[in-house]
Amino acid sequence: MTLDELELECKNCRKCALCEGRTNLVFGTGKKDADIMLIGEGPGENEDLQGQPFVGRSGQLLDKFLASVDLSRDKNVYIANMVKCRPPHNRDPKPEEQDICIEWLRKQFKIIRPKIIVCVGRISAQRLISPDFRVTKEHGTFVDKNGVLMMGTYHPAAILRNPNNKELAFQDWLALREKIDELGIEI
Ligand code: URA
Ligand code: SF4
Repeated sequence: MTLDELELECKNCRKCALCEGRTNLVFGTGKKDADIMLIGEGPGENEDLQGQPFVGRSGQLLDKFLASVDLSRDKNVYIANMVKCRPPHNRDPKPEEQDICIEWLRKQFKIIRPKIIVCVGRISAQRLISPDFRVTKEHGTFVDKNGVLMMGTYHPAAILRNPNNKELAFQDWLALREKIDELGIEI
């Protein structure tokens, strides 16, 4: 199955209650065989309206970080979220919603086969790296999970709330770039 075929199948998903509030399902976007995959939390208002991940203010900041280390959704990364439909009032996706939706993410992962996964924010880092992941303590460090390097970093929305963390977050994206070069990944 190709990623486009999977997206078509996913578009009609009604496996959890989040389907009721969506305008558009946000499947994911970017290079279809990217070595770098970013995983956020869930669609916000702008994402829900446009059907694309990270297109609001957070997304603009994320794109800036990516561009600063020569990465972009157009060229070399794929971006998705833990859940594909917008949680009401932008609340955190519930564990049970993530447990259902993660099946789509697994299928995306199996097709894309990234070498590095960056968890953007606490929600995906706690689900995919470790349940007690602390962004303030563990951001920017890489751990190997079944041959895939995983790293968690600050969510851009958290940086917009507390700009003091911007420099620390930037260091994480630099560390990602260094890891890419160290592994000889062609981007
Ligand atoms: N925040 C996220 O975690 N994901 C998006 O797609 C947009 C904002
Ligand atoms: Fe399906 Fe995920 Fe949307 Fe729930 S959030 S309806 S599991 S695509």
